[in-house]
Amino acid sequence: MIKKAIILSGGMGTRMSPITKAVNKQLLPIYDKPLIYYPLSILMLAKIKDVLIIVNKGQLNQYKKLLPDGKNLGINIVYKEQSYPKGLPDAFLLGEKFINKSNVALILGDNFFYGQSLSNTLKNCINIKNGAKVILHKVSKPELFGVAKIKNKNKIVSIKEKPKKFFSDLAITGLYFFDKNVVKYAKELKPSKRGELEITDLLNKYRKKNKLSAEFIGRGGAWLDTGSIEDFYNTSAFVSNIEKRQGLKIACLEEIALNNKWIGKKDILNSIKFYGNCEYSNYLKKISL
Ligand code: G1P
Repeated sequence: MIKKAIILSGGMGTRMSPITKAVNKQLLPIYDKPLIYYPLSILMLAKIKDVLIIVNKGQLNQYKKLLPDGKNLGINIVYKEQSYPKGLPDAFLLGEKFINKSNVALILGDNFFYGQSLSNTLKNCINIKNGAKVILHKVSKPELFGVAKIKNKNKIVSIKEKPKKFFSDLAITGLYFFDKNVVKYAKELKPSKRGELEITDLLNKYRKKNKLSAEFIGRGGAWLDTGSIEDFYNTSAFVSNIEKRQGLKIACLEEIALNNKWIGKKDILNSIKFYGNCEYSNYLKKISL
């Protein structure tokens, strides 16, 4: 069972400069809420209550203004600063104390997931006792991602990071589930040619022991990019279209917390005070009636 998770929310966001010069990318809006709400909502849907957010050095205050400690959501949020991006597995080195020999999930702060089948997929993932799980999704440009080849439905036989030649069209999304060995394995990693610790090297340690398996979002689900300005814009449009059509918000953290029975109506009223008079608060009013 996985009860803890790390959101890796650092990075320079260079592809989105100058927008990201003064503000961290994960605090910028995807339509009507900051990007970080979306990965956090996924963890909350997976019923994970203990969250470590890794942020860039110097940006802690920006985050704390938005998500101080998680109490208003019935969860526990702590922070750790990263002096410079050293690769995704650095999350487990920085998070060693937080992890404290438990199983742990990792989600990249800029990953956007949406879909009906997601809750079931997440249920399967948090139940792992041993080994590691990744979530795969078919993409049209696999060269932009880590990709995996599978056998017997969900056994991963081989993985590659951003292969130049076609290898598989199943991308490894930025949501990973690991057993408690992850810290030990992360410590054994050596930086790659580009000078970073690579998530694929970490996953390969599990694969070589036959302990890496896959889950899928499925055809009806979406895993969207937020890497470039164009991606931001398109993902915002996606959220806007779905929210307007359904009259329901995607990644409304307070709504998920309420559904999980982690908070009550009084907490929602406090959140409305916190946000002030805005469209998001109007939605909170509606769901707390
Ligand atoms: C990282 C990982 C890659 C994964 C992707 C998912 O790449 O290295 O394996 O598919 O996240 O978002 P990045 O987007 O940081 O280049």
